[in-house]
Amino acid sequence: MKPIFLANWKMNMLPAEAETFCKSFLGLVQADASYTDIGIAAPYTSIAAVKAALGGKKGIWLGAQNCHWADNGAFTGEISAKMLKDMGCDFVIVGHSERRQYFGETNDTVSKRALKTIENGLRAVVCIGETEAQYKAGITNQVVLEQLKGSLAGISADMTKDVLLAYEPVWAIGTGLTATPEIAASVHALIRSELINMYGNVVADHLPILYGGSTKPDNIAGLCAMPNINGGLVGGASLQADSFAKLVINGR
Ligand code: PGA
Repeated sequence: MKPIFLANWKMNMLPAEAETFCKSFLGLVQADASYTDIGIAAPYTSIAAVKAALGGKKGIWLGAQNCHWADNGAFTGEISAKMLKDMGCDFVIVGHSERRQYFGETNDTVSKRALKTIENGLRAVVCIGETEAQYKAGITNQVVLEQLKGSLAGISADMTKDVLLAYEPVWAIGTGLTATPEIAASVHALIRSELINMYGNVVADHLPILYGGSTKPDNIAGLCAMPNINGGLVGGASLQADSFAKLVINGR
């Protein structure tokens, strides 16, 4: 499977900054229809700027970082998958650990958001991963399996072609502590085997499992060389065009 690299800009990047990033990034990385391996999840207010700066460039997916499970309604402060689709988005990140940690996101709400994302013709990037305390307590596998099953509840085998998973150990996010390729690969293997149980071999083989957590241009190749690691969800290293471009080039 060709690796995929998704930028998660989080709450960063004004529209003008996003435009500067995209112009410089496009000059640094080969992005065309033959390289459908890059995505940018911008904050809502910069999605239009990314879209305009990319100029419909094929090979770079436009994304958002969350969406609600209703199409519209009295949900102050929320945004729907329908609205994001209308803006031209291709994918939505759901269940990021920062959403789970700071905004009360649960496996149940994550699965509802994922379902709505797919129903609206977008890809859902479903995030799972254990906290530092869970890692230290040796319950990583149990936590990851529970999150995997809970977050994909209601997603049928047919829908999985629009699902990507991101395994992001919380202790590695923004901390500079990357999971070693071996640690990451063992959890990815566990996820792959549970996907076989849930959906069978064909689906499990085609479902990309990205790794996230302090990925950098100089550690991405080692991670992507491991079996079952199909790319990266990149936070800090995706905020500079040259570092994200280097990461993509090194990881390919
Ligand atoms: P990081 O973030 O690369 O800055 O660790 C990854 C993420 O949170 O998706």
